[in-house]
Formats: sequence, C-alpha cells, structure tokens
Amino acid sequence: MDYFSVKGTHDIFGEEALLYDQIEMVLKGATDLYGFNYVEIPTLEYTELFTRTSGESSDVVRKEMYTFLDKGGRSVSLRPELTAGIVRCVINNKLYANQDFPLKLYSLGPAFRYERPQQGRYRQFLQFSVETIGLDSYLQDVEVISLGYRSLQMLGFDHVSLKINSLGDEISRENYKKALVDFFKGHIDHMCEDCKERLTLNPLRILDCKVKEDQEIVAKAPKMSDYLTEESKSRFRSTLSMLDMLEIPYEVDDSLVRGLDYYSHVIFEFHYTSSLLKNYGAIGAGGHYDHLVSSLGGPELVGVGYAFGIERLASVISDDKLMGNIEAKSDFYVMSVGEDTIDNAFEIAEYLRSLGYRSDVCLEKKSMGNMFKKALRRGAKYAIIIGEEEVKNSKVLIKDLLSQEQNEVSIDSLQEYVDKLFK
Ligand code: HAM
Repeated sequence: MDYFSVKGTHDIFGEEALLYDQIEMVLKGATDLYGFNYVEIPTLEYTELFTRTSGESSDVVRKEMYTFLDKGGRSVSLRPELTAGIVRCVINNKLYANQDFPLKLYSLGPAFRYERPQQGRYRQFLQFSVETIGLDSYLQDVEVISLGYRSLQMLGFDHVSLKINSLGDEISRENYKKALVDFFKGHIDHMCEDCKERLTLNPLRILDCKVKEDQEIVAKAPKMSDYLTEESKSRFRSTLSMLDMLEIPYEVDDSLVRGLDYYSHVIFEFHYTSSLLKNYGAIGAGGHYDHLVSSLGGPELVGVGYAFGIERLASVISDDKLMGNIEAKSDFYVMSVGEDTIDNAFEIAEYLRSLGYRSDVCLEKKSMGNMFKKALRRGAKYAIIIGEEEVKNSKVLIKDLLSQEQNEVSIDSLQEYVDKLFK
C-alpha cells in the first residue's frame, strides 16, 4: 500500500521550509517591535469553545470543523482558528489579574478547516494570530491594523490592499439584522438552502453567500453603514482618520462582514494581487470583538486582533519574489581531506558553533568535488578545509564560496578571522 498525505494537507520542505522560517521570523520580529508576547495553546479544544465563539451559523462551525468524540465520550475539535483558544487561555490562567492592559499576545500554529482544497486553501494550514485584550479604544484597533500592515511591508509586500468596514456596536447590528430580515423575507424562497437557514440563525451571514444568483440579490440589500449608531459612526471615522495620519491606505468595503460571529466595530482584511494575477483570498484578516471574553465566562474585556495565513503569504512571496534570495542557511561547511582528519573537522565545526556560527561538517569520506557540492546545496557561505598538512601546522583553509577567495588561517586566530568575516 502507498501512503499519501491526507487531502488538503501538505508537506513543507527544502526552499519552501526556509521561506516559512523566514516569514515566521519576520512576523515575530514585527510583534516584538510592538511589545507582544508569545503564547502556546493546544491544537485540540472542547468543541463548545468554537460553537460559542465562531458562531453556530458560521460555515466554519456548521461545515468545516474536524469534530469527534474522544475515548471519554467528550466532543473535541481541532481548532479552526487560534483566537478562541488564546482567549480561553487568558481566562483560564487569569492573565488579566494584574489589570495591566492591554494584554498583547500572539501565537503560531496549525489550524484545521474541512474546506474544498484549492489554490491557497488547505484543510490544515498555519496561522499567525495576534490579539490585544482589555483596552477599548479606536487607537488600539489602529495599532493592531498598523502592526499587520507593517509586518507585510517588512515581508516585502509593497501594495497591500486593506479592506475595512465597521459592524458597529450591538444596537447597530440588531437594527441592521432587522433590516436584513425585512429585505430578504421577500427573496428568500429563491435563495440557497444555506441562506434560508442563515435568515433565522444570523442574517448577516447571508451577505457572505458564495452562490452567484444569491450574490445578485445580496448586492441590493441594505448597507451596514446606514444602520450604525452615531457613536459607532464616530468611532469608525476616528479609526479611518488615524489610518490616514499613519499613511496606511485602505478601502472601505460596505459588503465586508467576515465569516466568524464574534466581531463588532472595525473588521478588516489584507489582500494582495500577485503579478501572476492569482487570487489566494485574504492573506490576513481580523477585527475588534466586544464580548468574546465575557461570552466564555471571562470579565467584560474587549479585544482586537488578526491572523495571517502563512501558506498564502508564502505563495505570494514566492510568486512575486518579494523577499529576494533566501538567506544562506549555514555560515560554514567544514570538510576534511586525507587520512584521520575527520575528528579535527568535527572539532572545528563544534568550535564554530560555540562561537555562534551556523556550521555543518561532512562526516563521511567524500571527494573534494562532492563536498563542495554539498556545501553549496546547504547554502554555506564559506568552506573550511582541513587536511593532514593543516592538522600538522594547526591551520585551516577558509574559502569564500561566492568569490572563491581562499586563505590559510591558524587555529589560534580563527575566532578573530571569522568574526571579521561576519562583522
Ligand atoms: P480568518 O479570516 O478565518 O480569521 O482567517 C485568517 C487567515 O487565515 C485568512 O486571511 C487566511 O490567510 C488564512 N486562512 C483561513 N482559512 C484558510 C485555509 N483553509 N487555508 C489557508 N489559509 C487559510 C480568523 O481565523 C480570525 N481568528 C482572525 C482574528 C484574530 N480575528 C481576531 N483575531
């Protein structure tokens, strides 16, 4: 029998794995600039965590969750996103106890959705999720959007399209939902079965319907902006003018509602059209949530966050060569020639590692040609060659693999020499 990966999952290796590493490093670097701390949360949670938060009416909960009973008969699910788990972690561990708000947290790991696999859409994918909790200000919302935008700039995305909308406060949404029910009542008989259900569960979800004929009806539906309370309107205006101040370009998209139920006020999505005109969907998305923490039994704390999809970022980056050449993986490749020199090569590699240099060593007897090929495949910048002559004289040869320049260096001055190379 042949074994294949599960449909919608994928292996990441070679150049692609290096790219993932780099993306994660850049994203972590950006969150560091903004004062975020890492949290590690489980992949597996009780199902109710997601039905409560993403919403019974969301496609994620209705159709896409990997849910099963564990051996104790409890319903558990592979997380379809990280926000609910991060919020649960905040509540369970009382991370809010010292009232030092906002909490600024991020996490990275796999999420699972039983979607139809297609370009940029997997059943297991990686999310980099950022959440701030406990500070209710449009400035907090803008800080998070700005972090997302700057992260993309640091990854080399030069023309990101930021779609933004406001779902307002609870009163705004209730008024809007009533208007939607009134409007769709006259059309629902001609709409898909999902929409019929959405009309009673959450009419906002109808706006997200992907059925073409339904979309034509949706286009004529009332607009959220006409139902925002004065306070919600004013908050959204302040958000937009702060984005203007920061010179972060955006496009207000009245039809944006997002696929998860916990949002209020600002919601946003980052899009990017690659030069190959491929559409990967949103590369990242998020928004503000008023009641997510309290809905899980925590205190009344608001939050705002977003998640990037690492696969989508990686696809766009490789299509458009946004990050240039991937940085070399290794600083030195140490190779031995002649008899009984492998131990010496091994020691040199260990010494270089102890100095903080990424070093690899050939532990087999190979021809010089073969070893140089290996050094290049491993992306080393320099080869270090050690033969019987060098062992006898306590020296090594260091060769720049790009310029081909080669120098003899005594072991005593090796540290000084390599430090200069990497200054
Ligand atoms: P989301 O829009 O469902 O939001 O997902 C965020 C990002 O995850 C998407 O923009 C996309 O890049 C990536 N993504 C989603 N589904 C897939 C898939 N099937 N394959 C590949 N990538 C995918 C959330 O998950 C919210 N938790 C974001 C958030 C954080 N809101 C507040 N805080």
